[in-house]
Amino acid sequence: MNTNYKNLAIEVKNSILYLTINRPDKLNALNFETLEELSSVVNKAYEALDVKGIIVTGTGEKAFVAGADISEFVQVNEYNGRKIAETGQELFSLLEKCPKPVIAAVNGFALGGGCELALACHIRVASENAKMGLPEVTLGILPGYGGTQRLTLLVGKGKAFEIIMTGDMIDADHALQIGMVNYVVPQTALMAKCEELMNKIIQRAPIAIAQTVECINAVYNETKDGYEVEANSFAICAKTEDFKEGTTAFLEKRKPVFKGR
Ligand code: COA
Repeated sequence: MNTNYKNLAIEVKNSILYLTINRPDKLNALNFETLEELSSVVNKAYEALDVKGIIVTGTGEKAFVAGADISEFVQVNEYNGRKIAETGQELFSLLEKCPKPVIAAVNGFALGGGCELALACHIRVASENAKMGLPEVTLGILPGYGGTQRLTLLVGKGKAFEIIMTGDMIDADHALQIGMVNYVVPQTALMAKCEELMNKIIQRAPIAIAQTVECINAVYNETKDGYEVEANSFAICAKTEDFKEGTTAFLEKRKPVFKGR
């Protein structure tokens, strides 16, 4: 994988791609260039044979991502607004549809576009100091990178209305309580918790994991019949070598060795 990006720090270690938004002096705010770089990395991660899963985080101890870069908002107008939202939506949807597991290590402020980035990941683990929110209405706009949709699907209408309409930040414990994050851990334990989850998932059969992404995302796609997608995915898994290996290993009382075939 190319690791040469201006606004991202990229490292692949033990089959995990560590994708770190790296603009600490701007609390890792997502400017347009960072979004382009993110899109390039995520596209490559789909195919990269040395990558089995992605952990997304932000540089430093203060912020995951404090939002879209507000200094670029002067460029946003009625002519390009739709396109900007669609571009962000496309990128975050790419992350959500990634056939490899994607975990957000929410290490601090996850606001606006940063919160939307975390919401697009499959699993979120937050550090105790994390603060999440969608403060766009305080700026006269609304979440445009999928936040109105994903937050509502994750926490339900009532809480989503409250969070988006007030624009207030919520702390990590509150986020845990409403199901916005899966775990809250001390900041020093954040990466270890993400790695523990990731290492478990990447030992499972990769095609079964990729098909799980298809099926769970189908729940939220009105144009798809989720049960049909599930049956199709089941059939796809049923013809894999990994399915044979998984069941054989169980019967032989040994650990399976999956090959992603
Ligand atoms: N876009 C651009 N720059 C941002 C930013 C954003 N979303 N969030 C923080 N920054 C910059 C600040 O402008 C500041 O830059 P400077 O040192 O050049 O002035 C730097 O990051 C540090 O932020 P600062 O505000 O000084 O830190 P703080 O600890 O006082 O406050 C926050 C932290 C997160 C509460 C505050 O930065 C904030 O409210 N950010 C905007 C959050 C937001 O509305 N995001 C949604 C955008 S859609």
